[in-house]
Amino acid sequence: MPIAITGASGKLGRLVIQELLQRVPAAELVACIRNTEHRHDFEKLGIAVRHCDYDRPETLEQAFHGASRLLFISSPHHDDGLRLLQHSSVIEAAKQSKIGQLFYTSFAFPEDGAISLTRLHAATEKAIHASGVPYTIFRHAIYSDFVEVLDLRSAVAKGELRVQPGHWRFNSVIRPDLAVAIAAALTSPGHEQQTYELTAPKAWTFEELAGALSELAGKPVSLIQDTELQHWMFGFLRSINTASTTGDLVRLMERPATPLKESIQPFALPLK
Ligand SMILES: NC(=O)c1ccc[n+]([C@@H]2O[C@H](COP(=O)([O-])OP(=O)(O)OC[C@H]3O[C@@H](n4cnc5c(N)ncnc54)[C@H](OP(=O)(O)O)[C@@H]3O)[C@@H](O)[C@H]2O)c1
Repeated sequence: MPIAITGASGKLGRLVIQELLQRVPAAELVACIRNTEHRHDFEKLGIAVRHCDYDRPETLEQAFHGASRLLFISSPHHDDGLRLLQHSSVIEAAKQSKIGQLFYTSFAFPEDGAISLTRLHAATEKAIHASGVPYTIFRHAIYSDFVEVLDLRSAVAKGELRVQPGHWRFNSVIRPDLAVAIAAALTSPGHEQQTYELTAPKAWTFEELAGALSELAGKPVSLIQDTELQHWMFGFLRSINTASTTGDLVRLMERPATPLKESIQPFALPLK
């Protein structure tokens, strides 16, 4: 019985599919995609493709038909009200399609955040619980991509990493690690009614980031606490739980998490 993956054409979806292909034959996978121009990327690998648009509920049941497990990758839409409607449609279709187990990509520690994003994920989890469909929740910590706002390339060039003052700690994760954990759970028995907090096993600090940058650059990069520095991302980071950690990611991956230095490398090295 196949495993269906929504958002298959996205960054996380493609990585999960790569990992799944290490574990199960392509014939056991169904890529559910909105933009069917991407269909060849999957068909050339022997993966079946179905059209799936969260905004068009009529596409969803046929997309999920016959799948025993469904990985539902949350919508990337910026309007959380609309996202909740999209998510509700996916959950209802999963129920009507008699999906054996629904796997959902949520957000870490949603109860500790008081913003629209955390409320959206909490509400989606609640709707999944209420649907009666067996579920597994993968709560993702913030993706390490957020370091982009710190402009690490300039920091290396200037030898100075500027951050807003504060006692910052980050449980961030990278998509390739998440993909390993998700694929491992999707292809192993159990995990029913489990909620995993997929965070780094140890939170890192801006001091450690400056240290990792120095190592990557081969020259010192000093940390500057800059009270003048303004960016909306710092407000966002303050309103979610970026500090708490669990061993769930590492346990599911059955290998260590990617170290900070490697995680930030794509954002720190000069563009070619
Ligand atoms: N924890 C974090 O810090 C964090 C950070 C970023 C994102 N996220 C979440 O993680 C998810 C995966 O991230 P990502 O980097 O893989 O995002 P991404 O590259 O933007 O991929 C999003 C996927 O969702 C699909 N999609 C968009 N709207 C859709 C709709 N109406 N119906 C069906 N599919 C639709 C896209 O399809 P198309 O190819 O047709 O556009 C794409 O395949 C995001 O969607 C977001 O909810 C979390």
